[in-house]
Amino acid sequence: MASGNGSNALNLINIFYVGKTGSSSINISAVISNVGDAPVIDKVKKTAPNLPVFTIPFGSLSERQVFENKLENIIDKYKIKYIILAGFMKILSKEFVSKFPFKIINIHPSLLPAFKGRDAIKSAFEYGVKYTGVTVHYVTHEVDAGPIIYQEIVKIEDYDTLESLEAKVHIAEHKIYPAAIELAMNADKPQR
Ligand code: GAR
Repeated sequence: MASGNGSNALNLINIFYVGKTGSSSINISAVISNVGDAPVIDKVKKTAPNLPVFTIPFGSLSERQVFENKLENIIDKYKIKYIILAGFMKILSKEFVSKFPFKIINIHPSLLPAFKGRDAIKSAFEYGVKYTGVTVHYVTHEVDAGPIIYQEIVKIEDYDTLESLEAKVHIAEHKIYPAAIELAMNADKPQR
């Protein structure tokens, strides 16, 4: 699920869908956006024309219930086991989240629990920390919290600008998100 630019969604699609190898059991079933004109939608359609893409409006809080109902229909229809948030910028309800424990995974551009919320890269840069990073975690009732699956450190050099830091964080995201998802899904496999 993505709301914006879609670089993380595209990266996952390129690895697990377009370039899928026999060794990976991960299969992407659908892409869902809450923003009708989000760049991610066109990018997915170009990169993976056969991958189902759904837009379900969810701007204001009043649209959340309908969004989540439609999302559950898609989850049932495609027998989806994991919900991967890739720059999905809305908060899911507690009721929805509690239906899918350890099945919703998010990526956040900071070393949580530092710099929760929006504009985390900018907040870390402006605070002046020397190290920031990326966190992949399970989604729980609390925003940008939940058990951590994987973290990657990004060093902020004296010569970094906000733009150069953003680029470094995105590189780290694209590196660790696919690996962290595989880690989580393999850990979830029934033990023999
Ligand atoms: C990513 O940096 C992701 O970590 C962040 O939004 C960006 C989306 O970029 N997510 C959050 O801040 C969630 N709290 P993308 O659309 O290019 O993948």
